[in-house]
Amino acid sequence: MNKKHTDLIDFDKKHVWHPYTSMSNPLPSYLVESAQGVHIKLASGEELVDGMSSWWSVLHGYNHPKLNQALIDQTQKMAHVMFGGLTHEPAINLCKKLIDITPEPLQKVFLSDSGSVSVEVAIKMSLQYWHSQGKSEKHKLLTVKNGYHGDTFAAMSVCDPVNGMHQIFETVLMKNIFAPAPQSNFYQPWDESELTRLKTLFKTQHEKIAAFIIEPIVQGAGGMRFYHPEYLKACRALCTQFNVLFIVDEIATGLGRTGKMFGCNWAEISPDIMCLGKTLTGGYMTLAATLCTEEIANTISDGEAGCFMHGPTFMANPLACAVANASLDLLETGEWQQQIGFIEGYLKLKLLPLNKHSRVKDARVLGGIGVIETVDAVNMANIQKRFVELGVWIRPFGKLIYIMPPFIITEADLKRLVKAISTVLDEAQCFA
Ligand SMILES: Cc1ncc(COP(=O)(O)O)c(C=O)c1O
Repeated sequence: MNKKHTDLIDFDKKHVWHPYTSMSNPLPSYLVESAQGVHIKLASGEELVDGMSSWWSVLHGYNHPKLNQALIDQTQKMAHVMFGGLTHEPAINLCKKLIDITPEPLQKVFLSDSGSVSVEVAIKMSLQYWHSQGKSEKHKLLTVKNGYHGDTFAAMSVCDPVNGMHQIFETVLMKNIFAPAPQSNFYQPWDESELTRLKTLFKTQHEKIAAFIIEPIVQGAGGMRFYHPEYLKACRALCTQFNVLFIVDEIATGLGRTGKMFGCNWAEISPDIMCLGKTLTGGYMTLAATLCTEEIANTISDGEAGCFMHGPTFMANPLACAVANASLDLLETGEWQQQIGFIEGYLKLKLLPLNKHSRVKDARVLGGIGVIETVDAVNMANIQKRFVELGVWIRPFGKLIYIMPPFIITEADLKRLVKAISTVLDEAQCFA
């Protein structure tokens, strides 16, 4: 690295917060020069195979010509205009596409800035829906343990109560209701008895519950757990039976990652509210959407306030909408299904055998997601350094080493990811 690069890194270390990273004793951050396809090029010269899709968001690869062109074209027209009282073609086209590809009852789209905000919006919608009907006593959220829905306050209040930061912010967080995490594995026989506690909570508390929120099929940051579609089906049925709104958080699972367009397609159910984010712009920029039914939108709009009480400054940013449209056009070709099928097949063949390794508690694969749950927690500093030395970008946490590469990854690059994982599993210094 040259002097400019070391100066940049020094400044970064001293002044720039990174996610979940200490400012007083930070782990290293690697300076990125560019990214192309599935490769991230560091300023130090190394080229890493990306196993993370920049936290689930990149689908078609970095620096994609069609996505670049969509952005360039849109900048020539307008980068942004306010969405209050104004509208534009990129947003209208995007909302049309989202209504087309999501389950039929979802007809109204609220665009916002990020995944966490789309969850805030979903929660606010459900509270305002009941308030509009004079039922403000329905103000609690029901969810399951091991969930993750974002870092803002309402979102945090439905994250796992143990690993989801609740202790620190306990005094100000909404007090919500937690059912046990889904237990039946995606690949194991369905065991209906696991619904007992969930059913009891619905039965005894539904008069206080505005909405039930869950990540469909894959619980992501709360443990990378794959659960049975019958569980999701049962959630839908219970919400209907007990008059509770059903929110699915498809921020990580939406747009193909699990092998279906949406996680909820595995159970052939439709939610009342759906959150999308991350993948919406193919990993280019921040944009999220909360979709709801006509009935929810009308009830809110006919209530006391006469409108939904939310309106971010950068709502429906035209640049973000334009690139989202280009990304959805690429998905529309259907090629993603072969790409995910290929990743899943490869990972089942090459990653699952690591189940036999003494450091591995469980290896699992679903769609374009591969997970190695380890016996001991990883040593973050050592394992991260080793992955970079091995030419891959994989960022584990706790006891989870996981990959969900961009859909376009080749066999040679997948091989490199899996090889790197099997290599670190043999190295004691990579674990606590
Ligand atoms: C399921 C789920 N919901 C919500 C979020 C929050 O999204 P964002 O980080 O864009 O705010 C995430 C992010 O990891 C997520 O995985």
